[in-house]
Amino acid sequence: MSFPYLRPRRLRKNKYLRDLVAETRLSPRDFIYPIFVKEDLTEPEEISAMPGQYRWPVEKALEPVQKALDLGIHNVLIFGIPKEKDELGSSAYSSDGVVQRAVKLIKKELGDEVVVHTDVCLCHYTSHGHCGVLNKICRNDRCSYVVDNDATLELLAKVAVSHAEAGADVVAPSSMMDGMVRAIREALDKNGFTDVAIMSYAAKYASAFYGPFRAAAENAPQYGDRRTYQMDPRNGEEAIKEVALDVQEGADILMVKPALAYLDVIRRVREAFPQYPLAAYNVSGEYSMVKAAAKEGLVDEKKITLEILHAIKRAGANIIITYHALEAAQWLKEGLDRELF
Ligand code: PBG
Repeated sequence: MSFPYLRPRRLRKNKYLRDLVAETRLSPRDFIYPIFVKEDLTEPEEISAMPGQYRWPVEKALEPVQKALDLGIHNVLIFGIPKEKDELGSSAYSSDGVVQRAVKLIKKELGDEVVVHTDVCLCHYTSHGHCGVLNKICRNDRCSYVVDNDATLELLAKVAVSHAEAGADVVAPSSMMDGMVRAIREALDKNGFTDVAIMSYAAKYASAFYGPFRAAAENAPQYGDRRTYQMDPRNGEEAIKEVALDVQEGADILMVKPALAYLDVIRRVREAFPQYPLAAYNVSGEYSMVKAAAKEGLVDEKKITLEILHAIKRAGANIIITYHALEAAQWLKEGLDRELF
């Protein structure tokens, strides 16, 4: 060998040495654990599309939160599944809606021990399953349905304020309406919630990776799809435009979603906006694909999950929203990152 000193393998010969020089460290403190709360349930029901995840009755919403806390995860993201849906998604902004009740309960019991994030959207609450108000537009006898951006903003603002009133610490608008961050910021401030932060789903793609979630949250659109508001998976530069707008509008935390097929987008956003905390959403399809492959014995679930989560952090996300949060926290506690890599 002409350059005997070029031997990167020297640093790989022992797991403690590999650990010493590892560039990325994952911690339960990086995680936000998503929790589904469903109205009118008495017992938790397992979500068949997402093995290991449950829909929780409001009265038992503390259980998964407590489990997270016990593992050192102090951030949760609440999704609601209401019993009533209508055209305007009115159960999304009712003060005794499913999310509002769950948040009140969690904050009353646990106070500052847990940071409660809430998903702000209408799709779980509208009868048609879209993320906003639907208008029927007819021209020359041809009719189509269009999500009315600006009418939707008013409702999203109401949802956010109702979550803040219930005690949410961070609201996370996910509808990809133009101007949603500004509308929510203004409404929160006007109602005295200047200290409630906004984690914006800033670059959210129209992704097939949301499949299992739509079964879980019962929010699949009844007709049409979300391509007129969520981003085209073919675009990367456009993510910077979307994120820049949310920054201008007052977002506190930025998010890229999904995570795994969008590591390049995470990296670009990290480099373009190094001053902002960046979250990545390791979505339902990413989770359930791992579960399915592990069940078939095709992959080692612990190792592949830790590999994925480290990759998301390595790409530049400092916050990871993941259904694997509880298991991953347990595996990290056991030191499996050092044992497996
Ligand atoms: C609702 C919303 C979705 C997810 C989070 N919030 C789904 C969607 O746009 O259909 C997806 C999360 C996941 O797949 O884990 N707007």
